[in-house]
Amino acid sequence: MDQQVHEQVLQKPMLRCLAGETLDRPPIWLMRQAGRYLPEYRDVRRGIPSFLDLCYRSDLAVELTLQPIRRYAFDAAILFSDILVVPDALGQKVAFHEGRGPVLEPVRSLADLARLRPEGIHEKLAPVYEAVRRLAKALPPEVALIGFAGAPWTVATYMVEGGTSRSFENVQLWAYRDPAGFAKLIDCLVLATIEYLSAQIAAGAEIVQLFDSWAGILPEPAFLRWVVAPTLRIVTALRRRHPRLPIIGFPRGAGFQCAEYFATTGITALGLDSTIPLDVARDGLQNVGPVQGNLDPLLLVAGDAPMAASVAAILAAFSGAPFIFNLGHGIVPQTPPENVAELVALVRGG
Ligand code: CP3
Repeated sequence: MDQQVHEQVLQKPMLRCLAGETLDRPPIWLMRQAGRYLPEYRDVRRGIPSFLDLCYRSDLAVELTLQPIRRYAFDAAILFSDILVVPDALGQKVAFHEGRGPVLEPVRSLADLARLRPEGIHEKLAPVYEAVRRLAKALPPEVALIGFAGAPWTVATYMVEGGTSRSFENVQLWAYRDPAGFAKLIDCLVLATIEYLSAQIAAGAEIVQLFDSWAGILPEPAFLRWVVAPTLRIVTALRRRHPRLPIIGFPRGAGFQCAEYFATTGITALGLDSTIPLDVARDGLQNVGPVQGNLDPLLLVAGDAPMAASVAAILAAFSGAPFIFNLGHGIVPQTPPENVAELVALVRGG
């Protein structure tokens, strides 16, 4: 990158913050900022029978990524896609059923694993990379582009359970009874995730986020082996190729284990879920690096004074050091779009 382009890029509030600068007003973007709460998303979605097809249509992925940027001028755009395109690209059957969430043909044995095809992922994921390339050109100059992937543990929970789970017994029992066998699945996901994110970065993603939505269900030794170690491998490999790449880790529900995760994985910034107490995060996590979060998505639905009070508390806790405003988990479909506008105004001007 030549010096002038480098300086321009560093004007983006998200990149300045991730480089360690404390800004007067924190940058803001929201997890799941594209989606069913937006009427313009529902309009596009109506025309496409299967959700995964949306992810593989570069033109639609670009349009859906840009919708929330047009409405709210967020500081970052997150690529419109899903964490489950990786198992799909590996050759596992993945479907999304209306009102039921994702349904996958479970991978529960070494024989199931042997059917996955890691060598074929780039061909299947090419439209995702094309969407990133077009977004890198289309975005306003101050808006940063975030690429993402599910972290191996979280993606494995969907692959082994066959969808969203309440008990996670299949995946946890496999990990406990046959750690060497389960490690083969995690290894496959580590390598696929490195390749997938590297291709997003080559196409123009400036930041990557690892979503570890189910990091919080594991006791410590398993957390270190299946959450921390695979994340460290991904971070190390990506940094070898892209030394300055900002990486945000989001180990949802990890609670007391967040400090170990932040310090050991080498991620740039830590995404906080809504249950992390503000003073604990300020004193014990924000001293390690920038933090991101953590308004309860249901306070964004409630709006009004309860939302304003929580926003004020979050800003008061984190504004003295590098901080990115976000939710503690994704926007829910019943969110009134006008509450999002109100939130942005509170964070930017209030
Ligand atoms: O943040 C964004 O705007 C980018 C797009 C994005 C989606 N999914 C689009 C989506 C991102 C970053 C994700 C991540 C994702 N996907 C996660 C990690 C974050 C989290 O929420 O914990 C997980 C676990 C998934 C898997 C997934 N995708 C589930 C469980 C579901 C069904 C539940 C639901 O909300 O419907 C999805 C579907 C999905 N992914 C939708 C969208 C917009 C809704 C699909 C539809 O329109 O029918």
